[in-house]
Amino acid sequence: MTIPNSDSPLRVGVAGLGTVGAALARLLLTRSNELRAEGARLLMLTAVSARDASKDRGFDMSELTFHANADDLARDPEVDVVVELIGGDDGPAKTLVETALQEGKPVITANKALLAAHGLQLASAAERSNVPLLFEAAVAGGIPAIRALRDAVPGQKVTRVSGILNGTCNYILTRMEREGIAFDDVLTDAQRLGYAEADPTFDVDGFDTAHKLALLTSLAFGTEIEASDMYIEGIRAITPDDMEAARELGYRIKLLGVAQATETGIEQRVHPTMLPLESTLAQINGVLNAVAIDTDLLGEIVLSGPGAGGDATAASVIADLQDLARGLVPKPLRLPRGDLRPYQRARMRSHEGGYYVRLSVVDKPGAFAAIAQRMAEHGISLQSIVQRRKPTDTGPHTHQPVIIITHETMEQAVREAMDGIMTDGHVDATPQIIRIER
Ligand SMILES: NC(=O)c1ccc[n+]([C@@H]2O[C@H](COP(=O)([O-])OP(=O)(O)OC[C@H]3O[C@@H](n4cnc5c(N)ncnc54)[C@H](OP(=O)(O)O)[C@@H]3O)[C@@H](O)[C@H]2O)c1
Repeated sequence: MTIPNSDSPLRVGVAGLGTVGAALARLLLTRSNELRAEGARLLMLTAVSARDASKDRGFDMSELTFHANADDLARDPEVDVVVELIGGDDGPAKTLVETALQEGKPVITANKALLAAHGLQLASAAERSNVPLLFEAAVAGGIPAIRALRDAVPGQKVTRVSGILNGTCNYILTRMEREGIAFDDVLTDAQRLGYAEADPTFDVDGFDTAHKLALLTSLAFGTEIEASDMYIEGIRAITPDDMEAARELGYRIKLLGVAQATETGIEQRVHPTMLPLESTLAQINGVLNAVAIDTDLLGEIVLSGPGAGGDATAASVIADLQDLARGLVPKPLRLPRGDLRPYQRARMRSHEGGYYVRLSVVDKPGAFAAIAQRMAEHGISLQSIVQRRKPTDTGPHTHQPVIIITHETMEQAVREAMDGIMTDGHVDATPQIIRIER
């Protein structure tokens, strides 16, 4: 289907009137003339859906059709485009999107969980019906990362896409670094202030970042979306000691999602990362997000901005609506579904990079030398190895904190060396390992 570039308004139905949906509805109702792009149709909100019809959403619903069942919004003849802002990787959001695509209606969604789980199937359905399925708001909220990958870099070879993709994690890490306080204490405060959910698992354990990364990977490398076969490590294990050591060594710790082409496949990984203080991504603090794209012609470009919030996310939905109102019909995943290559995973054990290792070394003669020996046995070259007892720590000691920074090495070697050190009985806790990026 091609959206006709006519003078008639493009009639928009919005399902889900929470943080993003209500902000979008308010913008469409109050700014539709300003939001009309040059040569494009006027955007007109005609119908909405939510669970509770009586809730005050901060805008006047009296002129709009309210659908108690979201699927009815997709079938409403007064709706040309369906915007899904319900959320969830299954259930009403999925049914709504499927119904809208069957009805031959373009769909816009901010739902990364849905797309990570069912994106390929939905992209196929959109292609079959020849309608667009757009999702700029699903990755990094207000940052135009999807269109950068879809429209700005095709023809170039993307070698890497990485980003700070979860505002909750970045907020927590920023406060841990600045205030020297523990993860649990910042999390409790972030929950009180509304920066973290009551159940923070999805954010702090890296799953939200993984969903967004899966979409970026597909767009960057022309591969099928693969969100289930990914290395994921969250931020719970980061301590104030790691923060302090990172700063002293000239790094800042960020939760990064990285997709990187290697000789054996594509690395998709989500984990805390030490970034040099002078790097662009290290400057992205608080709830901000950023996406870095590396291509053969451009080098690195970095887009940063608000990764969440009603207005910022609604602005990305509006950018997609404007594309439709101009008559543009981009492919959901840049390439036709049939041209997407299967995702070939590069094993995490083959990852090459620098490593920060913090060990709690049992205080007995020869431990230090034995640790260095284990690292050497696995061909790991050390940039530095330092004992980090604080000047204030003067009592009798059973263990010594030791920080090791490696030169570039293979993950497998680091893991095997750590297994050896643990077996030798020279440490009294699981080693803390943080990967170092350029
Ligand atoms: N919040 C952000 O900053 C942000 C940023 C980027 C992407 N996103 C994505 O945007 C989507 C929406 O997020 P949100 O934060 O706006 O969510 P939210 O505040 O929880 O709002 C969800 C809305 O969906 C409605 N809803 C639930 N079940 C429904 C059903 N069966 N039929 C119709 N409506 C139903 C709810 O209705 P009631 O109000 O009546 O309960 C509510 O209005 C999610 O996919 C999220 O991942 C959000």
